[in-house]
Amino acid sequence: MLMTKSLIILGRQPELSLVEIFSLYGGKNQISQITDQTALINLNHSDINFKRLGGSIKLAEVLSIEAITTNQNLLTNLKQHLQKIIFEAENKKINLGMSFYDPKISLSEINKLKMILKSFIKSFNKSIRLIPNTTTQLSSAQVYHNNLTTNNNIELIVVKDDKQIIIAQTKQVQDINDYTKRDRYRPKRDSRIGMLPPKLAQIIINLANNDPSDDNSHKTLLDPFCGTGVILQEALLMGYNVIGTDILSNMISASSQNINWLKNNYPKITKLTSEFMLADATNFKWDKTPDLIACETYLGKPFTAPPTTEILKQTMNDCQLIIKKFLINLRTRLPNQTKMCIAIPAWYQSESFIHLPLIDQLEQIGYNHLSFEIINNRPLIYHRTGQFVARELLVLQTN
Ligand SMILES: C[S@@+](CC[C@H](N)C(=O)[O-])C[C@H]1O[C@@H](n2cnc3c(N)ncnc32)[C@H](O)[C@@H]1O
Repeated sequence: MLMTKSLIILGRQPELSLVEIFSLYGGKNQISQITDQTALINLNHSDINFKRLGGSIKLAEVLSIEAITTNQNLLTNLKQHLQKIIFEAENKKINLGMSFYDPKISLSEINKLKMILKSFIKSFNKSIRLIPNTTTQLSSAQVYHNNLTTNNNIELIVVKDDKQIIIAQTKQVQDINDYTKRDRYRPKRDSRIGMLPPKLAQIIINLANNDPSDDNSHKTLLDPFCGTGVILQEALLMGYNVIGTDILSNMISASSQNINWLKNNYPKITKLTSEFMLADATNFKWDKTPDLIACETYLGKPFTAPPTTEILKQTMNDCQLIIKKFLINLRTRLPNQTKMCIAIPAWYQSESFIHLPLIDQLEQIGYNHLSFEIINNRPLIYHRTGQFVARELLVLQTN
């Protein structure tokens, strides 16, 4: 019997993707990383709230998992799966895409295989269009724009490691148009404070929480460093009421305008509440106790080139002071066991990261710092090549 039900194609930073999935679907649902970019989860694809997962690119239904055999056997398996899928398809015309998560396969081998499958499908009196591969894997944009997750269209995924070959059919892909809308069309954006991508905001919220449902109208999320409100926006779309506070009045105004825009564009969130207040997070007394906290704290100066040691030291001191004071203040307002995820700065230098000292002081100020065995307890760092300031995600629980 096939136990593992779904395959997930992980995002650019697979460690963040894995921890996000684990946070929502861990426990008894076994998750295992197969290759750098793929993981299996013992859950049906229809039981996964894929839209909420900022770190996952594709969600596929596992069709078979077999011990490594010959390429001939792979072809026989692919034909069997395709025959079943096209038998169920209503249309005569089929678009077929293929992605191989196998470092050893070449583009020409893939093209050869696709041509054989094309003639095979034609033999069932169906017309078929092959989606061209420019690399061994189709991007989320190709899958999305060719509607490969809708009826009559197919993307087959083949994952190969030393022991096994997994064949899966893509059921959902990241809605890149909607992410672009949420990221670029908001009326207020501010590149000086660093733009938090909506996908990363989703990851931060998901790490602050263990519930994958969007039925959260009884819960309130607080972002005490709300800036232009990306976390508030993503939290509303996940069904939470939100409170956003910030030390700058122009940021409060930006968040409020952005959320108004969101409510006009996403009617499903109009019943949720959103409050904005001017507040210094290091001493403010929030009058409501939030159910969860998710934020991107002050990150210091946005460096375009590596700073001098002196300037870096000064920036680290500023961040350490503000974030530690904030955490001490927040602790006095929260009951035990409150969960949160905060993104704090880390700095990339000489191929490693410089961390804030407060990471080693969390226990003394009232927080347990959660780590994740699924990524061998490594730190959770979001970093883009060429950037000097990274974001380190801390998952905390009041102790
Ligand atoms: C990195 S930005 C957060 C950006 C935000 N995630 C967004 O969606 O735009 C950090 C924010 O913290 C605010 N901030 C800095 N010090 C603060 C303090 N002591 N209390 C509250 N907010 C503060 C800044 O005004 C800035 O908006």
